Amino acid sequence: MKVLVTGGTGYIGSHTCVELIEAGHTPIVLDNLYNSSAEALHRVAQITGQEVPFYEGDVRDEALLRQIFDAHRDIGCVIHFAGLKAVGESVQKPLDYYENNLSSTMALCRVMGQYGVKKIIFSSSATVYSADNEIPYREDSRIGGCTSPYGWSKFMCEQILRDIANADPQWSVVLLRYFNPVGAHPSGLIGEDPRGIPNNLMPFISQTAIGKREVLSIFGNDYPTPDGTGVRDYIHVVDLARGHVAAVDYLTAHTGEAVFNLGTGTPCSVLEMVHAFEKANGVTVPYIFAPRRSGDLPAYYADPAKSCETLGWKAELNVIDMCRDTWHWQSKNPNGYDA
Ligand code: NAD
Ligand code: WQD
Repeated sequence: MKVLVTGGTGYIGSHTCVELIEAGHTPIVLDNLYNSSAEALHRVAQITGQEVPFYEGDVRDEALLRQIFDAHRDIGCVIHFAGLKAVGESVQKPLDYYENNLSSTMALCRVMGQYGVKKIIFSSSATVYSADNEIPYREDSRIGGCTSPYGWSKFMCEQILRDIANADPQWSVVLLRYFNPVGAHPSGLIGEDPRGIPNNLMPFISQTAIGKREVLSIFGNDYPTPDGTGVRDYIHVVDLARGHVAAVDYLTAHTGEAVFNLGTGTPCSVLEMVHAFEKANGVTVPYIFAPRRSGDLPAYYADPAKSCETLGWKAELNVIDMCRDTWHWQSKNPNGYDA
């Protein structure tokens, strides 16, 4: 199937292009390169032997969207990755986040509807779950009470898409709630390439291991968790990408709205991740304990049972695979996609 992938030069989008191609689909990418490099798609071509048609532009540009749907009359569904994703920045720039994340989703759905393409997979996040839920989080756990404009923008996009599916029974909407995507393609050709100082744990670990950062600050060692550090559900980006391929299959057979967790269901603490990285790669990651980071929860992870039963998808790769593949990418590309 021909699949329009918005945000397809980004971290998760580029890995998903690889898995789509390997499953026999044909991705077409639209991205404004705000947080990514077109080089990612050259690397996808190196891995798969297939060039990916690329449109540089903004998802909010409806004329450009129409141009793409006119040029590719056989687009069967859309995977909508494009968006801003830095939690802390969203607190500083709420309007930018609501404007980009909501307007792009609405423009995309409007044009999709005009062209009769009514199948969409949306990148949502575990951040939409309320902090007062029991863990692990299930798809029917409470949502809302988000702690950042970023989180609310995902919550609101989910609601917009649910309303679209309610209004027109021809629509098929899949909301995928990602837990903590990490790792890189085993080829070491594509991976996460954050701009500036990384906010997230895994890129900070790998940049510390390679000497770009002096020391990792572990935010909090007094949480009510087995070793006192924060616990999350880290998922290998290749497993995550394969979850999207499973969702494409699901979309073709169903209408209405469905939501799935994409996580492993295996909790992992910050200290466990640091030690796994050292063990997997034979490197040292210097760290210090620092105060808790504002807004962080002590622990959460996914119940992935519904994804397994309904999508027939299950994460296969473990924390050692995540650490090995991150390091492979980091050491082959110390400056990311910049030469
Ligand atoms: P990313 O920043 O690497 O990819 C997003 C891409 O969207 C970038 O290439 C960016 O240039 C592009 N983009 C942003 N706004 C755009 C617009 N208006 N028009 C066209 N392109 C635009 O991020 P990622 O980690 O690959 O995340 C992909 C999606 O998954 C995002 O929606 C993100 O919110 C969601 N998500 C990510 C995580 C995570 O931890 N990485 C977790 C949960 C959900
Ligand atoms: C993981 C753990 C930190 C950095 C974020 C978003 C979430 C989703 C995924 C988009 C926590 C600790 C981190 C560091 C540390 N993204 N940590 N030192 O916060 O679980 O989730 O990314 O939807 O919405 O909030 O991920 O990687 O930032 O943190 O000790 O330098 O690592 O305190 O316990 P988080 P993270």
